[in-house]
Amino acid sequence: MVQGIVNWNTGETQEWLQQYVDDWVSFYRKHTNDGSVASYIPILQEADPNDLGITIIGKNGVSVRSGDTHRPFTLQSISKAITFIVACMERGVSYMLNRVDVEPTGEAFNSIMHLEMKPVKKPLNPFNNAGAITVTSSLPGETSAERLEPVFQLLERMLGYRPRLNVDVYESERDSSTRNRAIGYYLLEMDFLESDLDVTLETYFKQCSIDVTIDDLARLGMVLANDGMDPKTGGEIIPRQVARIAKVLMLTCGMYDASGKFATYVGIPAKSGVSGGILAAVPPRVRDETMPFTDGCGIGVYGPALGEKGNSIAGIRLLRHIATQWDLSIF
Ligand code: DON
Repeated sequence: MVQGIVNWNTGETQEWLQQYVDDWVSFYRKHTNDGSVASYIPILQEADPNDLGITIIGKNGVSVRSGDTHRPFTLQSISKAITFIVACMERGVSYMLNRVDVEPTGEAFNSIMHLEMKPVKKPLNPFNNAGAITVTSSLPGETSAERLEPVFQLLERMLGYRPRLNVDVYESERDSSTRNRAIGYYLLEMDFLESDLDVTLETYFKQCSIDVTIDDLARLGMVLANDGMDPKTGGEIIPRQVARIAKVLMLTCGMYDASGKFATYVGIPAKSGVSGGILAAVPPRVRDETMPFTDGCGIGVYGPALGEKGNSIAGIRLLRHIATQWDLSIF
């Protein structure tokens, strides 16, 4: 179970921290039986429902890794945070906020009920499918490859390598995309899309199909926790304003219609995906020397068994436990 713990500044080990996290992961692994893997994208059913892993990377260089840390999985809805950030960087924050609102829907991630029920002028937020497809339609470029290039470039700057597109997942998603196509046509009819629907959907399916690991999610979380700055060099990767809006949206909409409960019981900006990943960004908080990671940290979780709202069931419970033990809530 022990995966190792390193401090990139000192090389020091902190076994006590590792031991706690190992125990918690073993305990919450049993909770994976309370959920089930996503099946509406056929290939996602191949995931092992009992997998559970976590990586925590702190600003001071300490990292803790436990459980199934080496499984690659696709970003799925976590990509919505990345494409929103890229769209803000490419098109400008005010421009994007004119195209998509920043209000939670209280509905499932693939619902468009709110678009029909309310006289809205734009999708309610960039993290449900309707808003995310709208954001993707704003990415500059003619082809999906051109539109995804700045997405891959931003990921490469944060991760230190260029992640790859999982073609099998992309094809499975594309070939089972009736709901997203229906959403796309509805957006087209409402005049919300900025570019060709087919290219937009192809780009959206591909952004969801980028392979990552929980180490990658923890690195992304650490950059967001650090207001968009590289924790090692201090250089800006994401403009501060954009990083802050992304965290607001993660807190209010990142777990869909479970966001209120997640904010109440965990209290950390986070974004989930149906493959079972959760990206969490813990900002620095009031110092208490007895608590780990007071300078902030990024957390990546993987647990493909999902609860009824489409979020990793054991992953959320593990995060809740750690947030309570280490006082990670931002509130
Ligand atoms: O569009 C979809 O339905 C998927 N590619 C992504 C949905 C998702 O990850 C929702 N998250 N919990």
